[in-house]
Amino acid sequence: MSSDHPSDKDRPNSGQGTPSPGGPGPRAPNRYPPGYDPVTHVYTPPIGPDGQPIYPPGYDPVTHTFKRPESAAGGAIDHEHHHAYGHVPPALDADGERRTMLVTGASRGIGHSIVRKFADEGWRIVTCSRHPFERSRCPWEAGPEDHVQVDLGDREQIPLAIIDIRRRVGGRLHALVNNAGISPKGPNGERLNSMTTPMHTWMQVFHVNLLAPIMLAKGLFDELKAARGSVVNITSVVGSRVHPFAGTAYATSKAALTALTREMANDFAPHGIRVNAIAPGEIVTDILSPGTEEKFLPLIPMKRLGRPEEVAELVHFLCSEAASYITGEQININGGQLL
Ligand SMILES: NC(=O)c1ccc[n+]([C@@H]2O[C@H](COP(=O)([O-])OP(=O)(O)OC[C@H]3O[C@@H](n4cnc5c(N)ncnc54)[C@H](OP(=O)(O)O)[C@@H]3O)[C@@H](O)[C@H]2O)c1
Repeated sequence: MSSDHPSDKDRPNSGQGTPSPGGPGPRAPNRYPPGYDPVTHVYTPPIGPDGQPIYPPGYDPVTHTFKRPESAAGGAIDHEHHHAYGHVPPALDADGERRTMLVTGASRGIGHSIVRKFADEGWRIVTCSRHPFERSRCPWEAGPEDHVQVDLGDREQIPLAIIDIRRRVGGRLHALVNNAGISPKGPNGERLNSMTTPMHTWMQVFHVNLLAPIMLAKGLFDELKAARGSVVNITSVVGSRVHPFAGTAYATSKAALTALTREMANDFAPHGIRVNAIAPGEIVTDILSPGTEEKFLPLIPMKRLGRPEEVAELVHFLCSEAASYITGEQININGGQLL
């Protein structure tokens, strides 16, 4: 895990008044870039005396990208995928702070789509997973600077990761998405049931799928409270019925995560934090077992598997103001699989 991240400090909407780690800190009177309308979220560059638009430093009006000269590591940034304020203004909260989220398990699958969706909406995103950040697979802004490498199955690593994440987000976290999950199979790909699941597998599955979400939510509580943030737990259709491929440890860990969502929603609501769950059915990612399509298409009324982007849309909705009175809910997204 690296320590510092400069990812936002040269943004037009940040800098002075940036909250210090551990607390919201002082507010700058106006933190919007010139020409940014926080009501309509439209960026219109002001016109200078020469009749030409004045762009914020680093903004390239030809490519419509917003460039920073160097990454945290000092190397040149790949600007290709950077968002322009002209196209994607930063998502700001009511105090003019850029909305910031933490997504676990963002390196592929559903987590990957969640990052892309929120990046498109102008959020700053901190990611974590076991592997180092891969620019070629994850072409979003500030990726390497805002990636925390951590094994969520390791009780010792999570508290250290939380310290690192708190330092990075600087006092406010608008969304925590507990997406990372594992679904182990037997040595030949077979389903592990209550008789065949080894104890160490039970422990591992429950650590990644259930304990990591509670440790992160507790560890980042102050930041979530400061932002009146939102927690989204990715559960599963298998938490409510036996599945031909997903094992018993996985299914019970997801059922427990559903219950945790309800409990945490009740505990966190007085502090202004909403907690919800999304229970996907069969979504096309690496986690699916071979044969899922053949087995499930006849059983899914919509006659297709789901796409990670469809889950990402729902996560975004739950983290948005549009869902401001929704908490303690689990929303199914499964093409009608449970009907
Ligand atoms: N796809 C589906 O049909 C489906 C259905 C229901 C529920 N879900 C749930 O949706 C979530 C995402 O699933 P997915 O299909 O996108 O899975 P996936 O493609 O297998 O991706 C899992 C992600 O979790 C990370 N991860 C795994 N173990 C980790 C650990 N110990 N510490 C930190 N990160 C870890 C992985 O990154 P690293 O390998 O780099 O660590 C990866 O980014 C999971 O919670 C899953 O249970 C999926």
